[in-house]
Amino acid sequence: MSTTTEADDAIGLPEFPADRDARCPLAPAPEYREWRETDGLRRVNFRGHAAWAVSRYEDVTAAMTDPRISAEVPIQQISMGPGAQMFPRMDDPEHARLRRMLTKDFTVKRVQAMRPRIEEMANEFIDTMVASGSPADLVQAYALPIPSLVISMLLGVPYDDHAFFQDVTSVLMSRTATEEERQKARGSLFGYLLDLIGKKEREPDDALISRVAREHLQEGQLSRETLAVNGFILLNAGHETTANMIALGTLTLLENPDALARIRDTDDPKVVSAAVEELLRHLTIVHSLVTRVAKEDIEIGGQLVRAGDLLVMNLSAANWDPGFVSDPDRLDIDRDARGHVAFGHGVHQCLGQVLARAELEIALPVLLRRLPGLRLAVPPEEIRFRNDMSVYGVHALPIAW
Ligand code: HEM
Repeated sequence: MSTTTEADDAIGLPEFPADRDARCPLAPAPEYREWRETDGLRRVNFRGHAAWAVSRYEDVTAAMTDPRISAEVPIQQISMGPGAQMFPRMDDPEHARLRRMLTKDFTVKRVQAMRPRIEEMANEFIDTMVASGSPADLVQAYALPIPSLVISMLLGVPYDDHAFFQDVTSVLMSRTATEEERQKARGSLFGYLLDLIGKKEREPDDALISRVAREHLQEGQLSRETLAVNGFILLNAGHETTANMIALGTLTLLENPDALARIRDTDDPKVVSAAVEELLRHLTIVHSLVTRVAKEDIEIGGQLVRAGDLLVMNLSAANWDPGFVSDPDRLDIDRDARGHVAFGHGVHQCLGQVLARAELEIALPVLLRRLPGLRLAVPPEEIRFRNDMSVYGVHALPIAW
């Protein structure tokens, strides 16, 4: 076992993720270009641990499908009580067994059926925002409530508890929260979900938690703790990611008026869906969380990686690799950006991607059409970007119309 993951080795290494440049906050951190061009892999400090940052598209996609590379990363295992298994941090076949229990609710068909309700929600949140008057914070009024309500509905969690989830999630996603704060936040959400599972067993409904409890708890294929921890992951993942894409996507379009006008004025769903794919690639908001560990000595991008070494997938660098798309720095909503790694790659590729795409394909055009005079309510330099959080975005987006 290599000793290179020890904390001491991390001292003096560049921190991962690197902060994005305040003058160019929508682009990946500027040093990533050099990392990608000069080294296959770069030694970095990831939360106090030495790790290899993998930055080329070819290396990221190869590493994420290599069976010698594991998602069972010791520093990212969250203890939620005995017997609680987090499937995103597990390898196949156990990962696949647990993931299969959840996939029914995330299929193209299921998401298609949810679209009219998502569109209704988007319009309702705009009605409320307009009724309160311009200006408003798009994050609080629109970008967060849509995915929050959608994931609550899908899981069968009362939406009235959303303020509690958002508070807990923001602690968990903060790169500056202490381990004690995180543990407390996890504990309160975990306890809440265990209670909710008990309630669903007594009073079943058609939503995910109740269905999985009915189909798998009673058969003994799943423990209550594992269901609670995976419900916790879905709530967490369902909230912040899509919300940040809606807000950051809106800001990007305000800075690219031609792209904005095209999305607003088209009646072709293919134009919107290509634009969403390009925004996902361009912004790559999950820029720091995707870690792996080598199970044996292997070579990646010409670099020897020892068994036990920690790897971080530098998704934003990979999505801006000229080896993947030409002219990567340009936002080009007409390009074919499919194959990007904003949702990851391989067996752990995002379970919620169909849903996230639908939310974005609805939320962005609805907003632009309902508020044709949409503009920033503050000078761009006053916008606070989320360099301090694991998922990138804006803390608030003051808008006027
Ligand atoms: C996995 C990004 C929305 C649930 C991932 C991964 C990425 C990602 C990069 C791969 C992690 C890895 O390989 O270690 C995003 C982005 C989203 C989004 C950019 C929005 C724009 C959602 C939503 C949900 C969700 C809405 C659920 C409701 C999950 C789950 C996994 C995952 C459960 C783990 C899958 C597995 O390990 O098998 N996501 N996600 N995500 N995502 Fe998402």
